[in-house]
Amino acid sequence: MTGPAAAESPTPDNGPSNILEVRDLRKHFPIRVGFANRVRGHVRAVDGISFDVRQGETLALVGESGSGKTTAVRCVVRALDPTAGEIRFRTESGRWIDLSGLSRRELRPLRPQMQMVFQDPRSSLNPRMTVLDIIGEPLLLNGMKNRNDRIDRVEELLRLVRLRPEYMRRFPHAFSGGQRQRIGIARALALNPRLVIADEPVSALDVSVQAQTLNLLLELQEELGLTYIFVAHDLSVVKHISDRVAVMYVGKVVEIGERDQVFFNPKHPYTAALLNAVPRTDPRAGRTRIPLRGEVADPADPPSGCYFHPRCAYAIERCGAETPVAEVVDGERRVECLRVGELELPGVTSG
Ligand SMILES: Nc1ncnc2c1ncn2[C@@H]1O[C@H](COP(=O)(O)OP(=O)(O)OP(=O)(O)O)[C@@H](O)[C@H]1O
Ligand code: SF4
Ligand SMILES: [Mg+2]
Repeated sequence: MTGPAAAESPTPDNGPSNILEVRDLRKHFPIRVGFANRVRGHVRAVDGISFDVRQGETLALVGESGSGKTTAVRCVVRALDPTAGEIRFRTESGRWIDLSGLSRRELRPLRPQMQMVFQDPRSSLNPRMTVLDIIGEPLLLNGMKNRNDRIDRVEELLRLVRLRPEYMRRFPHAFSGGQRQRIGIARALALNPRLVIADEPVSALDVSVQAQTLNLLLELQEELGLTYIFVAHDLSVVKHISDRVAVMYVGKVVEIGERDQVFFNPKHPYTAALLNAVPRTDPRAGRTRIPLRGEVADPADPPSGCYFHPRCAYAIERCGAETPVAEVVDGERRVECLRVGELELPGVTSG
């Protein structure tokens, strides 16, 4: 896959094991008022985030509703135009390309390599199209003109997601929620992507089919060598499927690290508070847990200093005045907290 020379990033930070390197990404939505559409301020939905995604891993992106997860991943696939920052993607041929400034035309040849699975399969699948046409559409748009070729490929994709190929003439309403999500996954896989971004893919499903769907995603990752960014607002959903975890709060990544480090030994008070909601395998075990109080801050009018300070059980005076910057701890973990060196925080204790 090739891209325009001007957009290539000459100095990727880590090279070989990464597939994606996001640097200081921002998306600010203007707030317009009045007949003149005057800009009164901005929603800082994504406010300077950096993270890498390694080839073959699952990076979980977690945080409460409104923390900017969807906006961040929609910028990465360039469904949204970022306000600032770099989105360096390593193409199939090993070349690094900064997607952030590419035009629609320049992005077109790269799009098959990055695909999204959405939260609600009911609204993301067109109810008036058959499964064949839904999964076949990206194939057609990418040049597979022959209908029989599309039928063969759709058959193959349906088998891949453990659905019967004879279902392909049916419409989405004839399927259960879990089956519809499999159709969404098959559609996302149609063009052999390398990076799959799943935005809360199991949140709309019954608890009984959530685990099946997560297992299917894991099996597909193994079979096809996929790399995932998995968005969730519940840490317990990502506990078993993620390799690394990035925790977002009001447009910022406040902690990012290896899954076990983040779960067993969190370094940011917000992570520790989110872990409070993760069920314990041993209810007798454990240190004191800290509750998550109050509402998520408004990204159009965030608090001074550390955005988390009005809710933080560990806040001290300087937290309301100083903005934390990312600090590297324990090797590769990055944490944005002014008290990162001092705090002993409770994580999950087993399992
Ligand atoms: N098009 C838009 N215009 C203005 N504000 C927006 C727009 N899209 C998102 N926002 C705001 O940006 C913030 C982040 O929204 P986003 O949907 O990215 O959060 P999220 O973490 O995905 O939340 P959820 O868990 O509810 O899906 C929210 O305050 C939201 O209201
Ligand atoms: S900087 Fe202060 S308020 Fe923010 S998370 Fe750390 S201790 Fe809490
Ligand atoms: Mg979202």
